[in-house]
This record gives sequence, C-alpha cells and structure tokens, in this order.
Amino acid sequence: MELHLASMENVTCWAFRKLCHGVTDSYTGMLSMNYLIRRSKAWKEVDTFPIPNQRQWIQVATSKEKECSEFIARLQRELKEDSANNSLYGIQLNASCPSPNIVRLGQGPALIKRCAKVSSLIKELLKQDKYKVSLKVRLGMNAEEVKQRKLFALLEELEKISDSNFTNVAVHFKHAREQSFTPYNYDLLKEILSFKIPIVINGGIKNYKDFNNITKSLTNKKNLVGFMIGREALKNPDCFIEPNKILNNHSLPFRSQAQIKLEFLSLCKEHEPKSIYLDKIKEYCPWYN
Ligand SMILES: Cc1cc2nc3c(=O)[nH]c(=O)nc-3n(C[C@H](O)[C@H](O)[C@H](O)COP(=O)(O)O)c2cc1C
Repeated sequence: MELHLASMENVTCWAFRKLCHGVTDSYTGMLSMNYLIRRSKAWKEVDTFPIPNQRQWIQVATSKEKECSEFIARLQRELKEDSANNSLYGIQLNASCPSPNIVRLGQGPALIKRCAKVSSLIKELLKQDKYKVSLKVRLGMNAEEVKQRKLFALLEELEKISDSNFTNVAVHFKHAREQSFTPYNYDLLKEILSFKIPIVINGGIKNYKDFNNITKSLTNKKNLVGFMIGREALKNPDCFIEPNKILNNHSLPFRSQAQIKLEFLSLCKEHEPKSIYLDKIKEYCPWYN
C-alpha cells in the first residue's frame, strides 16, 4: 500500500520529507508553473535530492498547456545541470488548492469542471517519458459542483488516457469551499473506485485505524492504491511507521520528539530550506519547539 506525505506549501522541503520515515511518496509544496518557467530562483524549492525508498514528486499549478511544455523543457534542463538534485519521480498537477488567487487564475479546483482542459494538460505533461504524472483533486469547487457530479465527469475523461506514466489521482475528500475543521465524508469513495484509475485517498486520516474505518466496508478495493496524510505528519512525522508495519510489513523504529528535532536539524544542514519553511515548521510542528 502506498503511503503518501501530502504536499504542504512552505513545509514539505527535502528535510521534512526525509524526516517522515515510512513514506513511499512525497511532494514539494505547490509551485506555480509560471514562476518556474520565468524565475531561476523558483528552482531553489525543487529540492529533489535522493531519499532512499521514497518517490518524490513536484507539485505544480497551471491551467495552460503552453506552460506545461515550457516547464518540461526547463525541468529537464535544470535537473540535468544539477546532478545531485535529480531524484524526481513525477509531476503532480494541482486541482485542489482553494486559495482565491489560484482559483482566479483558473487553476486548482477551478479545473475540476473542465474535463477536456485537465485531460489536455495531463497529456501535455506526458509528452516525455522520464517522469510520472498524477493529479490531485477535490470533490468539486463547491457543494453545487459535487451535486452536479463534476468530479465523475472528470474521472470518466481521465479514464481514457491510456499512458501508463499517468499513475494516479489523489482525491482530497472535500470540496474547495469546505473549512479545514469540517468532518470528512467518504460516501463517494465506492463510486470513485469504480473508474479504472488508481486512487489515493486523502483527508482526516491520522493512522491505520482511520484508513481501515474508511475502507473496511468496501468490497472492491482494486483501484485503491494508497492514502495520503498531511496535518498529522506535522504533529508526528512518525505517523507513517504504524501503517507501514501493518500494511507493508515494514518495521521502523519510533523516535522521541527530541530525536525527531535533532534529525531534522541535521537534515537542514545537508540541504538548507528557505527560511519561510523553518518559520512555518516552527508554527505547525510541536516537536520543533
Ligand atoms: C500547511 C498546509 C499547507 C498545504 N499546502 C498544500 C499544497 O501546497 N498543495 C496541496 O495540494 N495541498 C496542500 N495542503 C492540503 C494537504 O495536502 C491535504 O490535502 C489536507 O491537509 C488534507 O489532508 P489531512 O487531513 O491529512 O491534513 C496543505 C495543507 C496544510 C495543512
């Protein structure tokens, strides 16, 4: 079972991703494709240095095919020039960030209702065969879109993409107008899993028990390839160890908060994140204080 550390803007730098033992897949925070194409300094945040047993993804936001092709060309150039920073596994398109600035640009969850557009962006990203491609979505832009089943129309379109490098869709089980504290509702999961698309589920999962409660009544789990944890990893970077043992039979030792902090500080010395990352980690992570 895949265990994904969620993309968290200004948090999931290389040091934080490596700190989370037992993770199979991790993501940079969401990065603007436009910035990456136009600004050299934006590449400082593409810190995909090796992490054993972890596939690393860059998460990007765009709504333009032209940006996708320019980005791919620049990505290949940048990572070729920086051979130590060349452990990128895949590119995830963000169709989930609820920020008004993103939505105004037609990016993030504004894409969910635009099936043909998303399919075309993904196909553009697939015009190379070095990196896998995935998509992160929500249930819709708002309650109305959920009722109108926009996500299902999108999944129907994505099912037609036959390229095996298109590896999965991660679904954050909320619409973009829901607050972070409202409870998650996984009623649509069964139907989402009926599409021929590998699915990673996300939202409100802290441990194996939560995952099991969500999935135990499902009879067909063939397309359920993993789950993703965000906020719990901020509190406890060891939260992947228990599900990794139960689901993948892979044992790793637990650490004290002091050990976690020491390890993080040492990783930051290897590849120093931008200072905003340390500020945010200080704000969100009790073990750092
Ligand atoms: C501080 C913070 C930053 C986030 N930044 C991003 C981001 O850059 N891209 C993204 O797709 N989701 C982002 N998210 C959402 C998470 O990836 C995840 O979908 C959400 O927190 C739900 O999972 P959880 O209940 O396990 O936390 C962010 C969440 C938090 C708490």
